[in-house]
Amino acid sequence: MAYSFLILNGPNLNLLGTRQPDVYGSTTLAEIEGLCQTHGRKIGADVAFVQSNHEGALVDAIHAARGVHDGIILNAGAYTHTSIALMDAIASTEVPTIELHLSNVHAREEFRHKSYIANVAVGVICGFGAQGYTLAMDAMMGTLGADG
Ligand code: DQA
Repeated sequence: MAYSFLILNGPNLNLLGTRQPDVYGSTTLAEIEGLCQTHGRKIGADVAFVQSNHEGALVDAIHAARGVHDGIILNAGAYTHTSIALMDAIASTEVPTIELHLSNVHAREEFRHKSYIANVAVGVICGFGAQGYTLAMDAMMGTLGADG
């Protein structure tokens, strides 16, 4: 049985590839989606990929994941550091969620050290660039007990 993952990306991540490549790398979000689709076929996970710059749309996507997806991999971008609404959405829907960042947020400005998402996430992956997405998929398989 294939598992189903929602890979949810927040504000400004649509600009990946050209956005501060020294910080976030030069891989575009479309390329990351391709990497995730390919990886999903290898590990037995169907992948739905969503990006929004709007906090409420991200809340809606988390609500809609309940009963549809087995896990959420969430790069909430700057909302990570501000959004009680996203934290509450994850807590309310109880879909296992992994927090993800391309950059190592702990090696950056102080305001990026605080995460509301981490309070309700299964775990956090950061600092591995685009590779972090496939690492998070493997971690989600482990969380779901599906990695053998
Ligand atoms: C980010 C880190 C956040 O602090 C920042 O606001 C982003 C991207 C990352 O992937 O490294 O938009 O989530």
